[in-house]
Amino acid sequence: MTERFGFQLNATDGAARTGVISTPRGEIRTPAFMPVGTAATVKAMMPESVAATGADILLGNTYHLMLRPGAERIARLGGLHKFMNWSKPILTDSGGFQVMSLAELRKLTEEGVTFRSHVDGSKHELTPERSMEIQRLLGSDIVMCFDECPALPATEEAVAESMRLSMRWAQRSRDAFGDRPGHALFGIMQGGVTPELREESAEALKSIGFEGYAIGGLAVGEGQEAMFGVLDYAPGFLPEDKPRYLMGVGKPDDIVGAVKRGVDMMDCVLPSRSGRTGQAWTRRGQVNIKNARHADDPRPLDAACTCPACANYSRAYLHHVFRAGEMISGMLLTWHNLHYYQEIMAGMRAAIAEGAFAAWEAEFHATRAQGDI
Ligand code: GUN
Ligand code: ZN
Repeated sequence: MTERFGFQLNATDGAARTGVISTPRGEIRTPAFMPVGTAATVKAMMPESVAATGADILLGNTYHLMLRPGAERIARLGGLHKFMNWSKPILTDSGGFQVMSLAELRKLTEEGVTFRSHVDGSKHELTPERSMEIQRLLGSDIVMCFDECPALPATEEAVAESMRLSMRWAQRSRDAFGDRPGHALFGIMQGGVTPELREESAEALKSIGFEGYAIGGLAVGEGQEAMFGVLDYAPGFLPEDKPRYLMGVGKPDDIVGAVKRGVDMMDCVLPSRSGRTGQAWTRRGQVNIKNARHADDPRPLDAACTCPACANYSRAYLHHVFRAGEMISGMLLTWHNLHYYQEIMAGMRAAIAEGAFAAWEAEFHATRAQGDI
């Protein structure tokens, strides 16, 4: 196993790419979907179950872990991997984005952001330097720059100013990260839906130099068409030989559209969160297991799926345990959703390697168009 962080591109098909990110904790096959383990757990899943769905990496959050149980405590207990019993790579988000959506009494300055915890109201500060320190204490393999993402709607001027602040923070993040072989620091492109701002942001990040580049500031309410509009050009501003990570995306069709446009990595709470609210994502589209029409249905959620929920249980059972508020409901639906997401990723990786992405994509959309089974 490698001691260094690296990225090897193995094949391209149009703008779509497939390759491998290597880290001392294992390889990440791209395009990769990262399940979200915000609070040192992918909710309702044992870590070995997350791995069994095919995930090579998961995402953790600086913001949540610094508040509870605390980064220094996790470091004393041997780091996040040991703490949560996940030995494969972990990427951590840097906290700024979560402060803006979750914390109270936020105050943003050139230095960073002060805020009150949504957990207990305690006062905290995050700066690029502190975010790098927290992500080091956690033992994160892929560290994200500390950035800021303006709330929508925002004027182009506000987006430009925020992006330039994030670029100054990117330089401070790079300086504070230091020399850490085997660990990577990713820059985060901002700039909203304005091509000139996206390009300015990409140029700023490239001149600093990062091991990978994220596209931030999307999936914040602009809609799929506007997001794909940005993805039609933004990945092209980034280096070809470094991984590209689209943050916080998305639904299955968002993911396919992003990969088609040159994205290598994504994360989203959707498969795990919707598993806990009775929503299943399948090849044929969305299934709401709460619906009374499943109450007597002996068929599995998806006959073609090999996950434990589909291999061993009927829709009637899944419906019953959801209605009864039983914990196994969230466990089985989350497993199914994560399994399905990883199946999409594996399908795309194989199709890109064979130069057959367009045919794979056509089949993906055609199957969904047939609707519920
Ligand atoms: N998650 C989703 N979007 C973003 C973003 O723009 N920045 C960060 N840090 N995290 C995100
Ligand atoms: Zn399944």
